[in-house]
Amino acid sequence: MALIHRMGWYGTLAILLAGATSVTNFTPAGSPPPPESVNVTVRTLVPKPVQRIDSQGSYRFGDGSAIAATGDARPVGEYLANLLRPLTGELLPMNPKGDIVLVVEPGHPAGGYDLRVRSSGIWIAANDPAGLFLGIQTLRQLLPPPVAGVTTWAIAATDITDFPRFSYRGAMLDVARHFFTVAEVKRYIDEIAAIKLNVLHLHLSDDQGWRLEIKGWPKLTQIGGVTEAGGTPGGYYTQAQFSEIVAYAASRFVTIVPEFDMPGHTNAALASYAELNCSGIARKPYYGYSVGFSSLCVHKEITYKFVADIVQQVAALNPGPWFHLGGDESSATSLADYKYFVDRVLKIIADAGKTPMGWHDIGYAPNIPAGTVGEYWDYTTPRGGSPSLTRWILKAGGQLVMAPSNVAYVDQKYSLSETIGTKWAEPPLTIQESYGWDPTGVFPSYPEESFLGVEAPLWTETVHNMQEIEYMAFPRIVAIAEIGWSPNADRSFEEFAPRLATFGVYMEAAGINFKRTPGVPWK
Ligand code: ACM
Repeated sequence: MALIHRMGWYGTLAILLAGATSVTNFTPAGSPPPPESVNVTVRTLVPKPVQRIDSQGSYRFGDGSAIAATGDARPVGEYLANLLRPLTGELLPMNPKGDIVLVVEPGHPAGGYDLRVRSSGIWIAANDPAGLFLGIQTLRQLLPPPVAGVTTWAIAATDITDFPRFSYRGAMLDVARHFFTVAEVKRYIDEIAAIKLNVLHLHLSDDQGWRLEIKGWPKLTQIGGVTEAGGTPGGYYTQAQFSEIVAYAASRFVTIVPEFDMPGHTNAALASYAELNCSGIARKPYYGYSVGFSSLCVHKEITYKFVADIVQQVAALNPGPWFHLGGDESSATSLADYKYFVDRVLKIIADAGKTPMGWHDIGYAPNIPAGTVGEYWDYTTPRGGSPSLTRWILKAGGQLVMAPSNVAYVDQKYSLSETIGTKWAEPPLTIQESYGWDPTGVFPSYPEESFLGVEAPLWTETVHNMQEIEYMAFPRIVAIAEIGWSPNADRSFEEFAPRLATFGVYMEAAGINFKRTPGVPWK
């Protein structure tokens, strides 16, 4: 609370935020009037913070504004300076005596931050730089959107204490069905970090393409890397490019979860190496849209040399704790073979020092290491075997990431008349449906600690470029981000919709090609 002591506390009537209200610039009694009077709009936030108390007054960026961020806070301070300088047109230097104070110190909410805005300054504090970074994402939304005509940069006074409901808040991007460049992945990382997501799961291999250089297996990229769905040219990341993505994500406090889907969804690998096939004959490249027809050869030792090379090389490139082995839709593998294969791969991953993650189908495996994460992709009303598969993962000491396909799969069509999107998980998937579910409510009998978090997967069979990524993800991924962050008790779509509409102004200013979904009062 150092800044409050330093700046003085006005003790004015606290106004709980109720929609967008307007407050005039507050001048303490006895002070000279400000050079001009400004109206400062109280900005709404997505995800909704845990606690927010607005007060009178506002901070105005000006010639004297400077960022004080030393020690562990310094890189986040530089990130903030780079964000704000183009907006405010000010020099905004770094200065230990500055009035925009960023602090890393113990005593703040786990995974979150405290933020105060007063007319004399801004103070954000967190236990670690990741929390500070999240506070800065809040600060960005408290600022007016960068629209034409805005010349006065001011933030209404407020006190925010904020922390996440779940530690894992993910987006998944399928770079296998269609390939996306390093620059596109970086742009998506910035977009998801702004709504406090902290995981990017990259689906790096599938029937239609193989997307990462693996040393010793050059044909994976020479053959598997050049194709994609629909027959257009694919692409792949060199290990150096993958490291560049990992480092960029780390600078946004986003952890990369690499997925190599197996034993099914492997046609690109099977087309690259004949020896991975039980027949010993390489498959033809695949450009179509079906699933469930390919399988690694479970009883050949070369298969496990192949998997170990991938796991070990990727483990060395990616500091994040998880390695995702896919494991879904392995209809071309017998159940006995599937169990044998997944058991062996889980051990390879654990031996490489990583925590295994897989689609919840891996719950068929008899021996699941403690800590294994199952990603749930059945509907919000579980069907078939998904309750027993998830229960088995939990019994082994694992946890669940919730991505129910009927509400969290942002590749599903917004409406059946859309040309873009897939339609196997009961679309239309409206923004109301993406918002209107609770991860723990899918399995109400499971204890709270069973749930590591949530994820919004974007499969890309029908998605070809950044504009289409953004169109499918936004705004539905904002709903998933709020489900992952905000307390569940007071969530309602009616209350969310106007905040989402305000965020739409920011999305527009950022050039995000979002869908103006019905039922939201877009501005
Ligand atoms: C999946 O959607 N097949 C995980």
